[in-house]
Amino acid sequence: MPEPDEFRIRTARSADDEALALIDRLTWSHLHAVMPRPAPDEPFFDERHLPEDYLVAELGDRVVGYVRLVPPTSLAATAHVRQIQGLAVADEARGKGLGRALLRAAVEETRRVGARRITLRVLGHNTPARKLYESEGFVVEGILPEELLLGGEYVDDVLMGRPV
Ligand SMILES: CC(C)(COP(=O)(O)OP(=O)(O)OC[C@H]1O[C@@H](n2cnc3c(N)ncnc32)[C@H](O)[C@@H]1OP(=O)(O)O)[C@@H](O)C(=O)NCCC(=O)NCCS
Repeated sequence: MPEPDEFRIRTARSADDEALALIDRLTWSHLHAVMPRPAPDEPFFDERHLPEDYLVAELGDRVVGYVRLVPPTSLAATAHVRQIQGLAVADEARGKGLGRALLRAAVEETRRVGARRITLRVLGHNTPARKLYESEGFVVEGILPEELLLGGEYVDDVLMGRPV
């Protein structure tokens, strides 16, 4: 693990667009992505993906990872839940504890806004992410078998969650 002062987690700002779009393009694979590979000129933020919904990890002066945390639906009935809808760390910054730090920051943010549960969906074959989530107290709450067809393979959609 790096020393705490080597990286910093903060809320994203619109100026992070290029760095985050690059992370998405370079890390894209069927291990975690259910959307098509982003085009080179595709912006990261749009009207449904706003900077304030993201926490980013900075290593030195570079943005090298992010987590997106949003309510799972627009219903008042799910206002007590936050859902992780995206977590990624650039290849060159992996294995330094940044993924764990982003996940802990998302849990902390869920607590801070007064929500009581945090959930996510992870592909069944995404062992690194599943190990990370399990080690931070997330448990499997449901499995949609062969819910996704990715690169010619049927993949389970695994629902995980935990109280905060
Ligand atoms: C999952 C991901 C965010 C982890 O980021 P990271 O910064 O490398 O993770 P950390 O260094 O904080 O590692 C935390 C834990 O994750 C697990 N982990 C990370 N990489 C792993 C690997 N290659 N194999 C198995 N477990 C792994 C381990 O439990 C690790 O804890 P340990 O170091 O004590 O063994 C990163 O691999 C990534 O961006 N993957 C592609 C995107 C993705 O899959 N996102 C999740 C979508 S649901």
